[in-house]
Amino acid sequence: MVYKITVVGIGPGSPDYLTPVAKRAIDGARVLVGSARALPVFKPAECETKIIDKDLAGVITFISSKLAESDVVVMVSGDPGFYSLLAALKEQFPSDIIKVIPGISSMQLAFARLGFNWQDAEIFSLHGRDPGETDLAYRPQRKIAFLTDGQYYPGRIAQRLQANGWPKTTDIWLCSDLSYENEQILQLNLSEAAGLSGFEYCVMVVVG
Ligand SMILES: C[S@@+](CC[C@H](N)C(=O)[O-])C[C@H]1O[C@@H](n2cnc3c(N)ncnc32)[C@H](O)[C@@H]1O
Repeated sequence: MVYKITVVGIGPGSPDYLTPVAKRAIDGARVLVGSARALPVFKPAECETKIIDKDLAGVITFISSKLAESDVVVMVSGDPGFYSLLAALKEQFPSDIIKVIPGISSMQLAFARLGFNWQDAEIFSLHGRDPGETDLAYRPQRKIAFLTDGQYYPGRIAQRLQANGWPKTTDIWLCSDLSYENEQILQLNLSEAAGLSGFEYCVMVVVG
């Protein structure tokens, strides 16, 4: 018997944004892997769990050992195909034992909240990656969306944009804790954003 890994996108966080097919996969899990925030929200009553923490090798070892006797369901935030653990899993396990269930990305929800198209947006994640100068170059009407974090938070990105010639009046939107009760959408200009702290884990939309 070959057991499988199902990588499930749980959406931006609130169960309201979990698709029915994702819910069925999670509810049927015997072994469930997910973040410390997601597990208490989505975990069914009877199943073994493992928290995804900084010890990624430990998570992979756990999944490997469980695959000897069971299918494993791995919950990731948003959509699995958009900056998630899926890439690391595909490096470690054969593709034919990995099934992916899509989720609603934080990027999709941010653009929906703003009521903007996003087919013309350039998307960047700065997780563990320093943006090159051409990545951040100014062009009128250029639309960029960033996934931000504690290292590349909105204030720091705004300072880089200023240094790359973006006008101080450039419109910026910060979307944090999307789908949660404490969700915030803040609109400000580039000059204001450059002096801002906080809003570390958010979707930052910039329109030149
Ligand atoms: C590792 S990436 C995961 C992206 C995820 N796969 C997706 O499709 O949304 C984590 C980043 O996604 C963004 N993010 C995830 N959930 C969010 C939410 N509920 N509200 C705002 N931003 C969120 C933040 O920029 C965070 O630093």
